[in-house]
Amino acid sequence: MTDSYDLIVKLRAIREFKPDPLSNDDLGAILEAARWTGSSKNSQDWSFIVVTGDRLQGLAEHGDYTDPIRASAATIVLVKEEGGNLFDIGRAAQNIMLAAKTVGVASCPITLHRPADARRFLGAPDEVETRYAVALGYPTAGTPPSRFGGRKPAETVVRYEHY
Ligand SMILES: Cc1cc2nc3c(=O)[nH]c(=O)nc-3n(C[C@H](O)[C@H](O)[C@H](O)COP(=O)(O)O)c2cc1C
Repeated sequence: MTDSYDLIVKLRAIREFKPDPLSNDDLGAILEAARWTGSSKNSQDWSFIVVTGDRLQGLAEHGDYTDPIRASAATIVLVKEEGGNLFDIGRAAQNIMLAAKTVGVASCPITLHRPADARRFLGAPDEVETRYAVALGYPTAGTPPSRFGGRKPAETVVRYEHY
């Protein structure tokens, strides 16, 4: 299999990071991958807010499992703009994670369980939604894999022609 296939199937949520800030090149490459994500009717009803430094602690208050935000070098909040849909937001999140891994940056998807509070924290207008984010940082040596791990067997999730 190709390196890119390996990249896809071996992508894992990483929750611990080195404290080092992301380089401008790496962050820029990750944001470019987000921007080039395909969307329904190419609507691109999204925007991306990069949160760093002290503001990470404040952002982390708005979800229940947000330690990866606290540990991150930067967290990108995916903003679903008015008219946008979560399928597109999910695709952008996956592109962020894959691009991050390509440039050597680990990542973890994050739910902001109180998106309205997150939205106010970010100074975003009422009509947008800020429910998901991706925490990013350089991996520590021997960063442990996800506390969940594994996948359901193919025969339980893949069907042909009928349910
Ligand atoms: C929509 C979504 C929301 C998630 N929210 C969180 C979260 O709030 N906190 C967290 O630590 N992980 C979160 N995760 C990461 C999942 O727990 C992780 O993707 C899953 O356990 C599989 O991990 P693995 O790919 O490392 O095996 C989220 C993942 C997705 C897709």
